[in-house]
Amino acid sequence: MPLKSTAPAPDAHRAARPSLDVDRIRRDFPILLREIGGKRIVYLDNPATTQKPRTVIDAIIHFYEHYNANVHRGAYKLAEEATAAYEGAREKTRAFLNAASTEEIIFTRGTTESINLAAYAWGRAYVSAGDEILVTEMEHHSNLVPWQILVKEKQAALKYIPIEDDGTIDLQKAVAGISPKTRLVAITHVSNVLGTVNPVCEIAKAAHSAGAVVLVDGAQSAPHMPVDVRALDCDFFALSGHKMCAPTGIGVLYVRKSVLETMPPFHGGGDMIRQVYRDHATWNDLPWKFEAGTPNIADAIGLGAAIDYLTGIGLDAIREHEIELTRYAIQRLSAVPSVTLYGPRDARLRAGVVSFNVGDIHPHDLATIVDSKLNVAIRAGHHCAQPLMNRLNVPATARAGFYLYNTEADVDSLVEGIVQAKEIFKV
Ligand SMILES: Cc1ncc(COP(=O)(O)O)c(C=O)c1O
Repeated sequence: MPLKSTAPAPDAHRAARPSLDVDRIRRDFPILLREIGGKRIVYLDNPATTQKPRTVIDAIIHFYEHYNANVHRGAYKLAEEATAAYEGAREKTRAFLNAASTEEIIFTRGTTESINLAAYAWGRAYVSAGDEILVTEMEHHSNLVPWQILVKEKQAALKYIPIEDDGTIDLQKAVAGISPKTRLVAITHVSNVLGTVNPVCEIAKAAHSAGAVVLVDGAQSAPHMPVDVRALDCDFFALSGHKMCAPTGIGVLYVRKSVLETMPPFHGGGDMIRQVYRDHATWNDLPWKFEAGTPNIADAIGLGAAIDYLTGIGLDAIREHEIELTRYAIQRLSAVPSVTLYGPRDARLRAGVVSFNVGDIHPHDLATIVDSKLNVAIRAGHHCAQPLMNRLNVPATARAGFYLYNTEADVDSLVEGIVQAKEIFKV
């Protein structure tokens, strides 16, 4: 699994320059102008959460200062404006994912809630004893634990697509794991540890021909590359707003309409009903049947602003920028003795996530040192992927993740911090 490095020349990457105007982009993010101890912040914890541009912050402030009201209910101007902005954010999300209809776009709190919605509403109705749910060894706990709970309750089984030593999935093995018993294939689009971009489209084809449905965990893909749920041919697609420049507390579950129409509700309460009688109720139209109670209006509007911001820059350009940074990071890191990198060697097979270990330095110590010396923010731990850590045979890794505002200088700071940590630990 670890990459065995041949330590390329540090400048070999410089022929291909990222095409984003990163200096201008950085000025859009107020937090990136902050200095700590007289030094700039090198923010590389983007897979955990991303920073927010001024336009997103302003959209939320503007909502609260100018048209704060509850949605769908009020017969007055403020409520109409709030409803229009909230439903406008849904339309922006539909276009962002190329869904066929806004009926297929459910706002949630994030990827975790989206997957739980699928597991509770769809899973409880459609998974029975003896059925199988197929996941990969690289799933985030969010795309594992809801299925573990479900299969235990239903006496069904959770099966795993293995991962290869280079951190990829072998498509043939994935397809071989799909059987007539498979009810669902739940797979991450991009690994939050290895960065691997999985062949979800091909897996969806095989799953559908076996009569299974497909859930794609898009937490690490939607922020970083163009996503077209119709081209992917998935039935569910989950994302988190806070990983794509929007606030925390807002996420999305896309559900193909033909699947959504057959699903019972998840939460009961206000707004999801049409009529309530003493002993039963009837349901609202899609997608509101799945949005019980007052929704997170301000942050949905913030998500809409984030989508405007990202699409204004271009997801293709963001993807290319991250490939270049990842290529550069792999080159620089693999040239440092004692660094072990995880995941595919080819930057085009992965997104901008690079996990690594440095000799026997604990990743938490490494993260503390690069922060204290150079304000480099990286993540250390199991990254909510403990089965993957077991597969890699490590308790934890350090992880750097890139976004549109990161630069090669950020990678250089990370490498400099690692060199300093090695000196302290004499590695
Ligand atoms: C691949 C993946 N799936 C799911 C999640 C869960 O996202 P959230 O905590 O926003 O619900 C994450 C978060 O790191 C992730 O990386």
